[in-house]
Amino acid sequence: MRKLMILLLTLLPVSLPAAGGGAGGEHMKEAPVNLQDQVSLQKGAQLFVNNCMGCHSMDYLRYSRMAEDLDIPEELVQKHLNFGEGKVGSSMTNAVNKDEAEDWFGVAPPDLTLVTRRRSPDWVYSYLTGFYKDDSQAYGYNNHVFKNAAMPHVMADMEQELNEEQFNSAMGDITNFLTYAGEPHRQESERLGVYVLVFLFILLIPAWFLYKEYWKDVD
Ligand code: HEC
Repeated sequence: MRKLMILLLTLLPVSLPAAGGGAGGEHMKEAPVNLQDQVSLQKGAQLFVNNCMGCHSMDYLRYSRMAEDLDIPEELVQKHLNFGEGKVGSSMTNAVNKDEAEDWFGVAPPDLTLVTRRRSPDWVYSYLTGFYKDDSQAYGYNNHVFKNAAMPHVMADMEQELNEEQFNSAMGDITNFLTYAGEPHRQESERLGVYVLVFLFILLIPAWFLYKEYWKDVD
């Protein structure tokens, strides 16, 4: 029996905990990332396109790929999410001129396709929920995890209108979407992982009977 258990354990895929990201101390919060939560990803995509893409691009993601992965019909994507000139197969670049933006903010708003990998989902979530009033700053706000960030608190109105839980949940949706965008294939592998586990479990049944059969005369 022990031999069988060892064999099965080595077959089971081990899911390693995600690597923790960077410093941020007491202000770091855990991001509610769930790549199987399509509703959250769809909300995040919509919030991102409407509030962030005026400045930030998403160069390595195509509208069509997003439509497919997040179960959003392509017509809806074209109507409500793609404000550029682009076709549904184009990348999510935006119309902002990087040099002009740099003149306005002092730094060009970076492309955000890989931001959750460069920083970490927890950092991004803590950043989005970490703005606080600070009159010494050009836009009247500072940030707990990114001191003196050149980005205005673009969600300030939303933060005032919603209660804390609703606001955190909206920022969680954006973070979830950005995490998906950084590794679109991960969503698929997670789904596959479940099938693999089910398959291994089913395999366990004939394996068990075989084992009994082989050892019945020895025991
Ligand atoms: C008005 C323009 C503008 C808008 C709109 C905007 N940002 Fe930014 N963002 C910036 C600028 C400029 C920076 C660079 C800040 C710096 O380096 O000091 C930045 C930086 C960031 C960073 C940090 C990137 C890094 O690793 O340094 C994240 C994350 C981010 N923005 C997310 C968002 C999200 C999410 C939204 C939408 C809710 C958004 N931004 C909307 C201008 C903008």
